[in-house]
Amino acid sequence: MRGILITFEGIDGSGKSTTIAEIARRIGEEERGDEERTPFAGRRFHFTAEPTGGEEGRLIREMLRKGPKTANVGGPGAREAEQLEELFLFMADHARHLKETVIPALERGRVVISDRYSDSRIAYQGATLRGIIPQPMKWVRELHRPWSVVPDKTILFSIDPAQAVLRCRSREEVSPSRMPKSPEKFEREAFLQEVAANFEAMARSEPGRFVIIDAARSKAEILEETMEALTEILEETKTNV
Ligand code: ADP
Ligand code: TYD
Repeated sequence: MRGILITFEGIDGSGKSTTIAEIARRIGEEERGDEERTPFAGRRFHFTAEPTGGEEGRLIREMLRKGPKTANVGGPGAREAEQLEELFLFMADHARHLKETVIPALERGRVVISDRYSDSRIAYQGATLRGIIPQPMKWVRELHRPWSVVPDKTILFSIDPAQAVLRCRSREEVSPSRMPKSPEKFEREAFLQEVAANFEAMARSEPGRFVIIDAARSKAEILEETMEALTEILEETKTNV
């Protein structure tokens, strides 16, 4: 595969989607030739995300919107089964994403930028499966290993979960049509603390792959630093395309 896979990771509200939208806009401007030439010129980009807009992605969003089914019902093992159902829906979505989007784009030499990817599963399901599966982060990573494509670089948006939760609340006030994603679970601060700690541990164990962005700053500052990081990645990987 000749392309490059760059993933963005971080907890909910860390500002990934906002920054990626702005990067896509800037790259679009360069493609129209309004800007001076940079390492972005001459590269073809493909923007994508997990969960995807496909069938499994739709099921995931529905599941997240409804929240846990087993809060008040279900016999022994119901909560555990529900967490595994969730993991395997995300895995199925990833498999389709790889097959239909990521691999074909990489084969065409694209720079693929994904808003969340396998590390989200290791960090989030690494948290939800704690107490259900021994060493859940390791287990989820191993589930991917034989068949998934490892990102060339991962840009991790690092932020205090309390600040990220506040941002998520105001996002829902601004666009009430955007359903809160199971606030009981995914936007609870204590849960996000654990997910953030999982991301940080992954970044420490693979310093060559991860680039950490301090996401507590202004949108403009974050965008500039992310553009600089992308420029460096594209310079480094020039020979790949
Ligand atoms: P993510 O995709 O990581 O969940 P979003 O990009 O959707 O996060 O951002 C969550 C909310 O925070 C949105 O309402 C967005 O406008 C706001 N936001 C994003 N970046 C910043 C920032 N640097 N400072 C303040 N608010 C921000
Ligand atoms: P997303 O729509 O990217 O949320 P946001 O825009 O707030 O970052 O992802 C939906 C939720 O699903 C989010 O809480 C993270 C979670 N998630 C997992 O738990 N596992 C996964 O494998 C992925 C891709 C997402």
